[in-house]
Amino acid sequence: MRKNEEPMFKTYNTLEQATHAQPRVTALLACQNNLMPTSWHMPISKAPFRYAVAVREENYTHQLIEENKSFTLNFLPSEHFETVNLMGKLHGDINDKLAQSNLEVENVDRFKNVLLNASDFIYECEVCDTYKNGDHTIFIADVVKIHVNDKQSDKPMLFSGRGRYGTVGETFTLSKRSIL
Ligand SMILES: Cc1cc2nc3c(=O)[nH]c(=O)nc-3n(C[C@H](O)[C@H](O)[C@H](O)COP(=O)(O)O)c2cc1C
Repeated sequence: MRKNEEPMFKTYNTLEQATHAQPRVTALLACQNNLMPTSWHMPISKAPFRYAVAVREENYTHQLIEENKSFTLNFLPSEHFETVNLMGKLHGDINDKLAQSNLEVENVDRFKNVLLNASDFIYECEVCDTYKNGDHTIFIADVVKIHVNDKQSDKPMLFSGRGRYGTVGETFTLSKRSIL
């Protein structure tokens, strides 16, 4: 430790006291017509394109995905942050969240999962594996279709925890030679 100075870091044993790696891109996961905000998700394979979402066991969405084995991920621009936050406070077994969201449905996939009109892009996901660990289950899915909105915004929804939302500021573009 540096002499005569306060330690630079405070150290915690649990996430509750400390912080997540944030901000995280946040999407609305639709299982049939129930909407659940999700920020714990990531791509895990490029070809085939596979995606993982972590869903808390007590959420109604968990039960729905186990039954339906599919879902859509709707990536909305940041302007919808209040709606997303509301969807994160309600549970689909006792609320009609789609109706309360006031979001328009563009279409449904072959499992009746909704595709939301306001999305910048949408992944249609079919579950191919499940991994239970801790208090969340990781559903691994094949992304079988990707719908990209012609009018895609450059304002992805970012969630920073505890009711804080934002979007990206400046984007720096490398010269062509430096791009991987
Ligand atoms: C921005 C945001 C991100 C969230 N991310 C997740 C997540 O990745 N996994 C999860 O299980 N819950 C997540 N939640 C909590 C659920 O969205 C919340 O518990 C919701 O009410 C569950 O709805 P359901 O019971 O209809 O499935 C998030 C909530 C918010 C507001």
